[in-house]
Amino acid sequence: MSETPTPNKKLIAVCGKGGVGKTAFTAMTTRVLLESGKAGKLLLIDADPAMGLPNALGINVRRTMGQVRENIIQTARRGKKEEKVQLVDMLDYMALEALNEMDDFALLAMGRTETLGCYCPVNDLLRGTIETLSKSFDIILIDGEAGLEQINRQVMRRVDTLIIVSDATSRGIQTAALIQKMAQNEKVIQCEKIGLVFNRVLGSEELLKQSALEIGLEVLGYIPHDENIAHHDLVGKPITDLPATSPGLAAVRKIIENSVLK
Ligand SMILES: Nc1ncnc2c1ncn2[C@@H]1O[C@H](COP(=O)(O)OP(=O)(O)OP(=O)(O)O)[C@@H](O)[C@H]1O
Ligand SMILES: [Mg+2]
Repeated sequence: MSETPTPNKKLIAVCGKGGVGKTAFTAMTTRVLLESGKAGKLLLIDADPAMGLPNALGINVRRTMGQVRENIIQTARRGKKEEKVQLVDMLDYMALEALNEMDDFALLAMGRTETLGCYCPVNDLLRGTIETLSKSFDIILIDGEAGLEQINRQVMRRVDTLIIVSDATSRGIQTAALIQKMAQNEKVIQCEKIGLVFNRVLGSEELLKQSALEIGLEVLGYIPHDENIAHHDLVGKPITDLPATSPGLAAVRKIIENSVLK
């Protein structure tokens, strides 16, 4: 039987500017957690409506929260009074309907809502679902939407570890600083621990360390630019199938061992 992880490191959210490697990092973390044998019951949440995570994991998603929400709306519209009364219970039931269960983990994808122009109701649904499902899983790993919007909308009210991913650009670091400010000064999201991961690092780690220090963020680690990751994305192979010798994977292993699994 696999060991269960430290209970206070359970809810982990990955956030950061668009295109910095949040999804690649989440997929590599999944592989590392599963290989460690310490993942316990693992739930992955793709909180990005663009849904990159299922591809990075090599999974076909059966149903999304967005589709579940449409069903709820349809039921409410045609529903008789009694049906509407039951809607509240249905929320839990339908969230479970959207859960994709694999052999060694489960995946919940937020997906898109068919009502144009607004993601907020799905965000609300997601918030409730994260709270409900957190009782049944040992680790929940969330691949967030790019930028600050979901943090602003408090899709997660609290997380144990907030991992901010940045590339080696000042815009990436600025976004990280804004997220950190929202979490620490404005208390938009409560977190036990916040850390910064630099991804696609080619140059000096020292310079990056310095800029993290300036914004008051602890660096959890540096992931090098890894041709294997770029290649897997190009040919459509799951990131979780990276060769064991991939430098990116080794860097993520070190980060996760020193933060989440410590
Ligand atoms: N360490 C790395 N080395 C090489 N390429 C990388 C690395 N990390 C990510 N990439 C590439 O960068 C691109 C963006 O990565 P990814 O999709 O993970 O970013 P993201 O932050 O999830 O983006 P989005 O904000 O659109 O969700 C992908 O093409 C991916 O293959
Ligand atoms: Mg992504």
